[in-house]
Amino acid sequence: MRKMTSDEIRDTWLEFFKEHGHYVEPSASLIPVNDPTLLWINAGVAALKKYFDGTLTPKHRRITNAQKCIRTNDIDNVGHTARHHTFFEMMGNFSIGDYFRDQVIPWAYELLTSDKYYGLDPHKLYVTYYPDDHETHDLWVKCGIPEENMVPSVNNFWEIGEGPCGPDTEINYDRGEKWDPEHLGLKLLQDDMENDRYIELWNIVFSQFNSMPGVPRKDYKQLPQKNIDTGAGLERLACIMQDAETNFETDLFMPYIEYIQKDAKYPYEGKYKLAYRVIADHIRSITFALADGAVFSNDGRGYVLKRLLRRASRYAQT
Ligand code: SER
Repeated sequence: MRKMTSDEIRDTWLEFFKEHGHYVEPSASLIPVNDPTLLWINAGVAALKKYFDGTLTPKHRRITNAQKCIRTNDIDNVGHTARHHTFFEMMGNFSIGDYFRDQVIPWAYELLTSDKYYGLDPHKLYVTYYPDDHETHDLWVKCGIPEENMVPSVNNFWEIGEGPCGPDTEINYDRGEKWDPEHLGLKLLQDDMENDRYIELWNIVFSQFNSMPGVPRKDYKQLPQKNIDTGAGLERLACIMQDAETNFETDLFMPYIEYIQKDAKYPYEGKYKLAYRVIADHIRSITFALADGAVFSNDGRGYVLKRLLRRASRYAQT
């Protein structure tokens, strides 16, 4: 495996997909434009929804990006796990009615495992897929993922709010027994249990349906064309490629932690790590949100910011 800075990881991603005919789309603002269904841009695809649902025809059918995202549904996990954040960067590649499964899986395998790129060991990659999706299973195995690392799961269906969705396949990296004190092994993945052993690095969605509120999944309408929507967490890849204990010990967070430490009474050690991590995470979110034009207020987006600031202050005091 190569050791890379987070900037190198992001550049390698964008460059790889550019070489494969993708247009490099700059990150959109965290504040959704003309989308009342979302408080924040919460995935790479969120800013591209208009192309997926056919509202707009894109200039480019292949797009790659590294999108700023805010998600607050995991807020209580922040600092407690190795990998949850309120603000993060999601790297993605997208096909709007262009390539599908048989193209995206070999590319994902090449980018992750080739020494020219990230150079991860394929034996440490564990891939989940929707149980009926034999084609996805066979493509991964053909590329070189060991058969015993393939894990079927009914949870492999991606949707978040209203809009494009579909079955997905997730690539997880095994950080080893050290992160699995009860020796549960693959059960952690099979039963979708909270854990820091198998880190989900990349999600590939075969985006072919449109989810609607109140409509059962089996009745979702097909999108105008078959698409690919993928998302990989920059912070998580940095954790693996920098051999860090958690995402917080990477070059993305240590500058915040070192800065806070200058004025703090207790060092970044033992039980104090939690507070440092929460503060670093929350001020990063607040800073990016304010820079994109959000303001503190008593409702909606502004209230989320207020809560984040209060929470960070509380951790600073306690
Ligand atoms: N939209 C999917 C996700 O957020 C893949 O990008 O995981």
